[in-house]
Amino acid sequence: MSGTLNLREEILRLKEERHAIILSHNYQRDEVQDIADFVGDSLELSRTASTIDCKVIVFCGVHFMAESAAILSPHKVVLLPEPDAGCPMAEMIRVSSPRRVLKTFPGYTTQPTFVFPHEFTLRDIKAQHPGAPVVAYVNTTADVKAESDICCTSANVVKVIESLPAEKVICIPDRNLSFWAQKNTEKQVIAWDGFCHVHDRVTREDVLAVRRKHPHALLMAHPECRLEVLQLADHVTSTSGMLRYARASGAGEFIVGTEIGLMHRLKEENPGKDFYPLRKDMICPNMKKTTLRSVLRALRELGHRVTVPEEIGVSAKMALDKMLELA
Ligand code: 13P
Ligand code: SF4
Repeated sequence: MSGTLNLREEILRLKEERHAIILSHNYQRDEVQDIADFVGDSLELSRTASTIDCKVIVFCGVHFMAESAAILSPHKVVLLPEPDAGCPMAEMIRVSSPRRVLKTFPGYTTQPTFVFPHEFTLRDIKAQHPGAPVVAYVNTTADVKAESDICCTSANVVKVIESLPAEKVICIPDRNLSFWAQKNTEKQVIAWDGFCHVHDRVTREDVLAVRRKHPHALLMAHPECRLEVLQLADHVTSTSGMLRYARASGAGEFIVGTEIGLMHRLKEENPGKDFYPLRKDMICPNMKKTTLRSVLRALRELGHRVTVPEEIGVSAKMALDKMLELA
């Protein structure tokens, strides 16, 4: 206890000294969320990173999030406390040389509009659909963003697609987010076959089982879940969208269809309500890598700094700025 207290005190002291801000994604460990200046979903964190006044941003999240902060604020020092905290989905698409994809999970039943095998690259799919703008989920690397027209998050994908003056759009890399977008727009969505291993493992049977256990609970699901899951949900939204929904709802019980780190804020902000995980193993190992110790080390050593080469950063920023301007 006193060890944790000392850690916290030292982090807060160094944070002042460095003129630093700690940003945390909603999936981070409870104690990391608690020490952060701002906790949010990808869209909120991008907005904060682009506007906040500080010299150093300690980004408690995964690599693409810190990279986006570095793109949006090239003159700030952006630190990722755990350099190996990546997002496997962001690794599933490459600009110009194919990348091997992780094994797919069995039992995947629904089919996207178009699925491209992973021996293709982003440039291939663009060449096959000339003129179709590319909407890149923020869960992508900087060079993929730089090659895209506009970014989106789980909170605004439909709004972003609707804003484009084209009837056909390429949506990368999450097939489930693309399915969800296709269900909610008249435009044609060309999907990439990427997925999040944390959300894509959930099946219709999981939903039916948890609903049997908690028949009065409302199901909130993240659009990275399969369409067969989303079709059974009461509300489909980003992580912070779930926080807003639970707060505003008159219901007293909720099933949480996303990474279990979100349970911390849900419970803290709604003391009279009950929250149950859709699956107890919805845990993102990369999001859990960051600890108070690694935050302290980041502040002490000013490591590990995330930077983006200027020629990539300028184009990637245009795609991120276009998304942020929509708000
Ligand atoms: P949100 O933008 O909804 O927070 O999601 C980010 C993410 O990585 C989901 O797996
Ligand atoms: Fe990536 Fe999924 Fe982890 Fe989000 S939860 S960071 S999409 S692996």
